[in-house]
Amino acid sequence: MPYDNTIAVILAAGKGTRMHSDKPKVLQTLLGESMLFYVAVAASAVASRVLTVVGHGAELVRKEHPGLAEGFVLQTEQKGTGHALQVAWEQVRQSGATHCLVLNGDAPLVKPEHLEELVATAREGADIAFLTTVLPDPGAFGRVLRGSDGNVTGIIEAKDFDPTQHGEDTGEVNTGLFCLSTAAVEAVLFSLTSANRAGEYYITDLVELGVNEDLNVHALKRDGALDLLGINSPQELAQAEDRLRASIVGDLLATGVLIHQAESVVVGPRVAIEPGAELTGPCRILKASSVARGAKVGAFCSVTDSRLEPGSELCEFCHLEGARLAPGSVAGPYARLRPGADVQENARVGNFVEMKQATLGPGAKASHLSYLGDASVGAGANIGAGTITCNYDGTNKHHTDIGAHAFIGSNTALVAPVRIGENAVVGAGSVITKDVPDRALGVARARQSNLEGRGKKS
Ligand code: UD1
Ligand code: CA
Repeated sequence: MPYDNTIAVILAAGKGTRMHSDKPKVLQTLLGESMLFYVAVAASAVASRVLTVVGHGAELVRKEHPGLAEGFVLQTEQKGTGHALQVAWEQVRQSGATHCLVLNGDAPLVKPEHLEELVATAREGADIAFLTTVLPDPGAFGRVLRGSDGNVTGIIEAKDFDPTQHGEDTGEVNTGLFCLSTAAVEAVLFSLTSANRAGEYYITDLVELGVNEDLNVHALKRDGALDLLGINSPQELAQAEDRLRASIVGDLLATGVLIHQAESVVVGPRVAIEPGAELTGPCRILKASSVARGAKVGAFCSVTDSRLEPGSELCEFCHLEGARLAPGSVAGPYARLRPGADVQENARVGNFVEMKQATLGPGAKASHLSYLGDASVGAGANIGAGTITCNYDGTNKHHTDIGAHAFIGSNTALVAPVRIGENAVVGAGSVITKDVPDRALGVARARQSNLEGRGKKS
């Protein structure tokens, strides 16, 4: 349960130069979801309101996260993490929250447990509580400084760290997670200066300022270093994604999902997979997908925002996006089901069949080489190999309606808008431009003529 009087501020305005990408860093993805998605989920589990400081690529971030946009605060110039918090402060103050949790938008593996511990420490009286961890190679992270009594005295960024001045490097680093008492920190937040090598306003300087002002500053040293720290490079992103993948797959195995070649199965954090479903790697199942008990996903499939209902089967090499497979239906191998593809009970979509905004009714079959777009196919209908719904006239899309138990011969073009009646038959090779009534045979092709002696000479 989120704490009522706790607000979270996610710092997400930076460019992320070290990612070498035009995309704002917080939009880089792990298992199909942005870094910001993960951080926001963790923050909302603990705080009752979430503010996100955006700057670099703010419009893109807004577009991809409409649900967070209400809490966006624009930092027009990225003058550092401390400056980012200053920019958000007016809204923090207006919220009336007693505590303010600060998270870096580039630390997607942070868990609500980490945050809860920090909030609890702040509620017990710490004015500034922050999480630290110890690394064998502390690299570019901010170093935590402690006095001879073990109490924390400050954080020095790697660029400014000098052992002759700051003492031996203990490897203890700042994770970037803070919980601040809003009343106490207000007194020091606007005293930050940019007197450091980068010329930025650092949130980390709050620690030394706080200690000097006799605030109660508390550093919680925790294991789990890699999960708490930010991602700054493609290598770090790949490693974090892989650890997250392994943990999700491990959890699924533990709940009773059957997984073959588990090391190559990728499942996103929003995907729901029931015990008794069966997956074979390599495959990717992402976004708001679900796989029910008894459903199977074969190797080399990519499934996004799609629903596999109980007992449905996705054979190898399929690509699904926004599709549904109803109970007992089978798709593939090599099917492409685009948004709005609805394969109903016991229907079958075979190889090299593409569906988009199309329904294949109960028990209907489209077994080979077809395009069904903006179409509805009735129960038990048979769509012959090479059938194409010609749904687009260059300007508009039109609908094709195929009645129950209709039979469409191979290599037929159905020029929409058009309706094929129930139990109607369409001759192979037809170009159908007019409706075919129920139970009628529609044929639209040139008659065959055989010219004697006009074949090969010998
Ligand atoms: C920061 C910490 C460092 C810590 C590390 C942990 C500071 C000064 N340093 O370093 O002590 O060890 O995180 O991962 O805080 N951002 C803004 N506006 C800005 C600058 C940054 O919103 O003007 C955001 C970034 O988008 C990012 C976060 O703040 O999500 C952290 O910034 P980043 O530049 O990655 O800081 P680090 O150098 O990693
Ligand atoms: Ca970082």
